[in-house]
Amino acid sequence: MPQYAAILGHQPHISLAELAASIPGFSLESIEAKQVALFSASQALDGSTIDTLGGVVILAERITEADVTMNDVPKLISGEVTKVKRKVTFGLRCFNVPKGEVRTAYRLGKEEMKRQGRPCRYIGSDKKPAATALLRDADVVSGKKGVELFIVGTPNGLWMGKTICIQDIDAYTFRDIEKPVRDTTVGLMPPKLAQILLNFGGWMVREALSDEEKKKNAARKHKKKEIYTVLDPFCGTGVILMECLLRGWNVEASDIAAKAVNGCKKNLDWLRKEQKILKKDVSDTVSKHDATKAFSLKTLPDIVVTETSLGPPLNKKPKKSEIKKFVKESEKLQEAFLQSAAASLPGVPIVCTWPFWKLGDDTVQLEKVWDALTKAGYEAVLPDSIEVLDPEHPSLLYQRKDQFVGREIVLLRPVAQS
Ligand SMILES: C[S@@+](CC[C@H](N)C(=O)[O-])C[C@H]1O[C@@H](n2cnc3c(N)ncnc32)[C@H](O)[C@@H]1O
Repeated sequence: MPQYAAILGHQPHISLAELAASIPGFSLESIEAKQVALFSASQALDGSTIDTLGGVVILAERITEADVTMNDVPKLISGEVTKVKRKVTFGLRCFNVPKGEVRTAYRLGKEEMKRQGRPCRYIGSDKKPAATALLRDADVVSGKKGVELFIVGTPNGLWMGKTICIQDIDAYTFRDIEKPVRDTTVGLMPPKLAQILLNFGGWMVREALSDEEKKKNAARKHKKKEIYTVLDPFCGTGVILMECLLRGWNVEASDIAAKAVNGCKKNLDWLRKEQKILKKDVSDTVSKHDATKAFSLKTLPDIVVTETSLGPPLNKKPKKSEIKKFVKESEKLQEAFLQSAAASLPGVPIVCTWPFWKLGDDTVQLEKVWDALTKAGYEAVLPDSIEVLDPEHPSLLYQRKDQFVGREIVLLRPVAQS
């Protein structure tokens, strides 16, 4: 089984759930240094894997399972750069390894290259590994100009791998900041979170397959490209849908506000032009619709992926009485939406976010909605390996330090009616 290490994003519990939902045969070995997940997969992952994983910053592949020490670093670098023409660039990204040993490994790596008569330079240092932008510029992740070894100290010895992909921060920033319409009054969803929600959506569709279909998929040597149709009924300015277009997933979108519908259309058109995504390859339909009313779509979508209303924008800490009112309004909206979805989108799984509010160190979450979803015929689920705080109410809390409203992520599976 190929083995990997992932540096998890700012909300490690959500990154882990995303990995469990996205990586075929994901099996977590351990978490090291609080942010590095060591895991195995049933299929080899390639350099493009990270492009759709919003919660993973860097991905590395294990290159040896032998008992190795930091003294083996020069030999491992040599083994990885045999095809590099001219100057070799190398770097080390180490976790739980004493700084002195990292420094020595850099020196030994340089000496080994010199001994082989190969010009070389190194990036990063014993104090800090290379910045991701530098890794990208130096073209070492592709293996063309060198290698970055990824080394993790574990209770069982050193885990040695090489970096195979890094998150493209510039690409995220570009589509987040440069899109023509940004509406700060409804809350700005980060593209990375949109990717995470879509990956949960893909997992829900695969989970709903018959055992036979699952077996067939597992037996495939290469993962088949999945193409789905996603409905976002609270589309706002379309962050989730932009991420759909980028991965070739068809889009059905609606919002109660005409301003949002127009903004969403503009953003999707902009992205199509920027990325040359043709309508004949990936479709989109954006219309005005109240999500609490029945949907009348020609064909059912494969999944609903949506960020429901976060309530009014807050630039100061809300009072208890205000939060009470927000909760009441949101419960009403969620209940009506779930009922309309159950009636007019039968059998379609839903990945959505509900708002929750921060009150000092406490959080105020929706409560009645759990009964409402059961009544509407859904059950909340999460990938098996994910630990949940409250097994009765499985969900993941996404929150940013500087915001008073967070998003509770829930995955709702339609319960089969007998
Ligand atoms: C948090 S925003 C979604 C933002 C979106 N993810 C984006 O990328 O911009 C929630 C959206 O729900 C819409 N909304 C609120 N109530 C609605 C309803 N009953 N039916 C449909 N849309 C609704 C709002 O107009 C708002 O655009």
